[in-house]
Amino acid sequence: MDRTEALDAVRTHPGWYHTLDLGGGVVVEGSVDVRPFVERALPRSLAGKRCLDVGTFDGFWAFAMEERGASSVVGIDVDDTTQLEHPPLKRVGNVATARKSGIVPGEGFRIAAAARGSAARRVSCNVYDLDVETLGGSVDFVLVGAILQHLRDPVKALERVRSVLAPGGCAVLVETVSTRLSLLQPRTPVAEFRPAMPENRFTWWVPNLSLLRAWPTAAGMPPVSKVPVLHRPLRGNAKGDWIAAVKVAPA
Ligand SMILES: C[S@@+](CC[C@H](N)C(=O)[O-])C[C@H]1O[C@@H](n2cnc3c(N)ncnc32)[C@H](O)[C@@H]1O
Repeated sequence: MDRTEALDAVRTHPGWYHTLDLGGGVVVEGSVDVRPFVERALPRSLAGKRCLDVGTFDGFWAFAMEERGASSVVGIDVDDTTQLEHPPLKRVGNVATARKSGIVPGEGFRIAAAARGSAARRVSCNVYDLDVETLGGSVDFVLVGAILQHLRDPVKALERVRSVLAPGGCAVLVETVSTRLSLLQPRTPVAEFRPAMPENRFTWWVPNLSLLRAWPTAAGMPPVSKVPVLHRPLRGNAKGDWIAAVKVAPA
């Protein structure tokens, strides 16, 4: 697919998750715009680094890492929505909604990569199965974005991330955190457990800031940075979830 074909495909794509800049003034509007988080989540330069984007979806973070000079970028995601760890009570409804949407997993990434002339690769891989062989080698930098909350076992996923890091490598987690629990229990790692909440469709856990440090620590990758809050949806109001980032590295 060349850029012209890709821009045509953008128009007919049934739905975008990420808001993406495709160059030449073309910006696709997705349901989630993480552009404001890039400056504080990613190092200014990733020159020469082999990078991995876990749960890449339409590829926003993969393309952002490429823009920062990564020598190679792989994004992993699942190709079959039945492989996602839907909360059991929501599985049937979620899978039916995904099928009805007409969105083919990976298609947005493919179109966006072609439009941007990106060399980033998308590999179909469940994070629980992540290993060096699947990636074609170890990596220096990993971005884990908004995925731990959707997993039954975030620590197991982070162990797999650790297993693909080259010596000296590190990862950044950009995740939703519970404002309420971060304020009420700043020193105790706890999470809101949401699978049985009627209005929730995809989320297992919403950790507090302390748990966002404890999950990677339990997986052998303690934080090597403070945990900046990148986004406070409702400033001064404890009802909205925050977005926070933490840099971690194997101990
Ligand atoms: C909420 S989206 C986040 C997208 C992107 N990482 C970001 O931060 O904007 C979660 C992504 O993780 C993927 N995902 C969920 N469970 C996964 C798993 N077990 N293995 C790989 N990818 C998974 C989903 O398919 C989806 O693309």
